[in-house]
Amino acid sequence: MRIHPSRVIRALLSATVVLFIIFNVHLFVYQHTHPMDGADTLQGGQRATFSQEIRSVVKAQNALTGDKLSNQRTNVSDIANIKGMVTNKANKKIEHTWEDIDESNKTAIKLAMDRVNQEELVYNLDKFKLQFTPNSVVIVVQVHDRIQYLKFLLRSLSEAYDIHKALLIISHDFLSNELNRVVQSIDFCPVVQIYYPYSMQVFPDVFPGKDPKDCPRDIKKEKAREIKCNNADHPDKYGHYREAKYAQTKHHWFWKINYVFDELSLTKGFDGLVLLLEEDHYVAPDFLHSLSHMKNIRDESQKSVGILTLGTYDKKPTYGPQSRQGLIVFLKELFGYAKPEHLQDVDITEWISSKHNMGMAMDRNWWEIIRKCAQVFCKFDDYNWDWSLQYVSSTCIAGGLKVMLMKGPRVFHIGECGVHHKGKNCDPHAKVQQISSMLAANRQHLFPDKLQVSHVINKKSKSPKGNGGWGDIRDHELCLSFLEHQKPTKTTR
Ligand SMILES: *[C@@H]1O[C@H](CO)[C@@H](O)[C@H](O)[C@H]1NC(C)=O
Ligand SMILES: *[C@@H]1O[C@H](CO)[C@@H](O)[C@H](O)[C@H]1NC(C)=O
Repeated sequence: MRIHPSRVIRALLSATVVLFIIFNVHLFVYQHTHPMDGADTLQGGQRATFSQEIRSVVKAQNALTGDKLSNQRTNVSDIANIKGMVTNKANKKIEHTWEDIDESNKTAIKLAMDRVNQEELVYNLDKFKLQFTPNSVVIVVQVHDRIQYLKFLLRSLSEAYDIHKALLIISHDFLSNELNRVVQSIDFCPVVQIYYPYSMQVFPDVFPGKDPKDCPRDIKKEKAREIKCNNADHPDKYGHYREAKYAQTKHHWFWKINYVFDELSLTKGFDGLVLLLEEDHYVAPDFLHSLSHMKNIRDESQKSVGILTLGTYDKKPTYGPQSRQGLIVFLKELFGYAKPEHLQDVDITEWISSKHNMGMAMDRNWWEIIRKCAQVFCKFDDYNWDWSLQYVSSTCIAGGLKVMLMKGPRVFHIGECGVHHKGKNCDPHAKVQQISSMLAANRQHLFPDKLQVSHVINKKSKSPKGNGGWGDIRDHELCLSFLEHQKPTKTTR
């Protein structure tokens, strides 16, 4: 058959018309099924700037409501309307600077800790509007005494997008004047300090610290009973007696969640996400942006996901999407019908303590589910909070705890030399440098427009065995006592 020029042209024309219609229909459908989720999304122009000068954009955004530095604090007792806009009702300034405490005087330390818990002063409320909406985030940082790490964490927080809208709670188990000065110099968001009241610092020689009449770790049970040491009847499953310094972290962890959800006036009515960090974590500039997207897709589809995790321990994490969202989107982007979308993958899987314990966020609904399992958590013979939560997940929560996790992490661990590994390379500078270059190399994947669930893994591990260190019934009782009201007596409740 001869190829007729006019037939070719006609065919080309009709093909063009058909393609044109298809693309327009898809564009129409696309725009109506993917509304821009405006407010929390960085616009293209901003992203371009971001890739050039990460800090200036974020700083500029955050400075919108920011003023110049001041050391003003606001007394929570004077704060109106806990659920709505948090403001200083009396609009009065409270100048209350930290007076150095004699760090060798336990009584003075205990008094100062109780006073701070009682006052619930919020710093920087005069500079930043604190408005609790369902999308607000409360960040709780568990702090012991590693100031150098804490400074890196605070620096990374100060450079994060939208940080001025968050409430930062610093949960201490150690009081030092230097730490206090660091915390009180925070100028990028509202801050509250809380103190774990049973720390070894104030109870060094009596439970929960190490009582001289407590049984030594390695003594045999018969021998212990013979010498009648305090906890002779309660060694752990491996026959060892408690070590106070290892017990504190689990207590503090459980205390602080209870305290934030159920005690602190400011947050006990709060319904949004509570993000748990530790002093040796480090955040990416878009961690709040990413978290709010995670919450959105969780709320839309996966109500059964209890924990949103921003960190991973992957040595080589994957940023950017692993798959396109289908041919249509690809073609549209190819033909310039749509701006390429910045996608980012998340997975949904069973929560595994060793993989998903860093940068965990949960809301009140899930806290209430976990709190119902307090007996299981507090009596499980393991001194690790995360392993205990794993046990809760597999024995006390129907279907187990599920997690949604960012494939490209937004929270990192810089404290290589933790409680358990002393003496390794402890220089956080090198680690922070490494994280910064990794983030810079992946900057086109930061501030994703949208998240896509790449894998849903349904499997359930068997329940874990305890590692011991938590056989003492005094620890069980102290841990369970955190469910009762803890706050030092206060007239207005
Ligand atoms: C905060 O307010 C309470 C109740 O009004 C008051 O007892 C307390 O002394 C105040 N604290 C400060 C630091 O002003
Ligand atoms: C320790 O602090 C308390 C409370 O401030 C004070 O009454 C006491 O005199 C102090 N003791 C010493 C030895 O300084």
